[in-house]
Amino acid sequence: MRSVTELDLADPVLHAENDLSEVWRWLRTQEPLHWQPERGSRPGFWVLTRHADVAAAYRDTERFRSDGGNVLDTLLGGGDNAAGRMLPVMDGSRHAQLRHALMKAFSPRALASVVDSIARASRELVTEAMERGRCDFARTVAGQLPLRAICDLLEVPRADRQQLLAMTSSALGAESAEGLAADSWVSRGEILFYFAELAARRRREPGDDVVSLLTRCRVDGRELTDEEVVLNCYSLILGGDETTRLALAGAVAALLEHPDQWRAYQAGGIATETAVEEVLRWTTPTLHAGRTAAVDIALQGRTIRAGDVVTLWNTAANRDESAFDEPDRFLLSRTPNPHLTFAFGPHFCLGAFLARAEIGAVLRDLRDLVAEMRLTAPARRVYSNFLSGIDSLPVALTPV
Ligand code: HEM
Repeated sequence: MRSVTELDLADPVLHAENDLSEVWRWLRTQEPLHWQPERGSRPGFWVLTRHADVAAAYRDTERFRSDGGNVLDTLLGGGDNAAGRMLPVMDGSRHAQLRHALMKAFSPRALASVVDSIARASRELVTEAMERGRCDFARTVAGQLPLRAICDLLEVPRADRQQLLAMTSSALGAESAEGLAADSWVSRGEILFYFAELAARRRREPGDDVVSLLTRCRVDGRELTDEEVVLNCYSLILGGDETTRLALAGAVAALLEHPDQWRAYQAGGIATETAVEEVLRWTTPTLHAGRTAAVDIALQGRTIRAGDVVTLWNTAANRDESAFDEPDRFLLSRTPNPHLTFAFGPHFCLGAFLARAEIGAVLRDLRDLVAEMRLTAPARRVYSNFLSGIDSLPVALTPV
């Protein structure tokens, strides 16, 4: 392999086509604050890989700001045009107010009916997949469940749901290296347009759903504008759909690669809640989060300058030997499991409870309904420097 310092960590192909475990290990131990140099007109950025550093940066929202963007593509491309208006890319009191308003819709109590519907949908999807004998798990079960959950939350009409899934898949990742940029921008536009229409309908006829909640909520004493409502719907669907799909497909891929763990889980000796956490650590669907330094920051013997882009690599932190025993083992019974898959601190994933419920439902159904799983063709990975995981997973499922 080329030397680590020659790699371009912003390159989607690098992440899709290589196992970077050794790279992350080298960075954690040799260069815990690494500078990825500029490439042509693209600015350079800092790379944090240790669990303790990543967690500390997530917590320190005063110095590591999100309101300039929170992923490499927008940060290096000149900033996020939703900055300051969409929850993940807001900071300070405005972020706290909007988050507080949205929390009402994301508490375990408020989500009880969505969780019931997830359990029903999971059972239906796993049963269907099994009856067909063979399926692409990443497209069928994993591809359907997260979108159904978010659509329940937003009360998106059933007729629109498939179209929305196609748009979200190509907005964040692509199936090939070539498909990347153009598909992605067209889909982002389509999603915004779709939610603009839905938000207008909900302003006229409000309900108990999250879109209606956003139209009513007040930040700094005023209601959100139409644009802010739309951007926050967009953030929920992009934040919750593709990520959870990758965790679910990654769960099955991991069970296929570790038959001992699959058997142990089937035998009933491992609590589903514990297994869910290891699936989250192992799959880490969002590779990194990005921040902008608000002031000069001294770290690991170097100085991050105010205005510099800093990336927090969840995928590297989740394999840090100083936070996990035997981090390179997939161990469904692992406790404690302080993974950073959902980030940490003020921006901790708002949909974590929902995502956990979805993964738990699918694991339970696989355990209770499926005797054997077999890969029938090679899995294919997503091309992205932000999302990580399996885009296509052809499997055969044999019923109990
Ligand atoms: C396995 C699935 C998921 C993963 C890996 C994931 C990961 C993350 C991460 C890493 C962040 C922090 C981003 C940052 O600090 O810049 C985040 C925030 C967020 N996530 Fe998730 N997420 C998942 C599922 C969901 C779901 C299901 C929803 C909603 C339906 C959701 C909605 C959000 C929102 C709104 C935020 C912003 C929170 C804030 O800034 O206060 N996520 N997520």
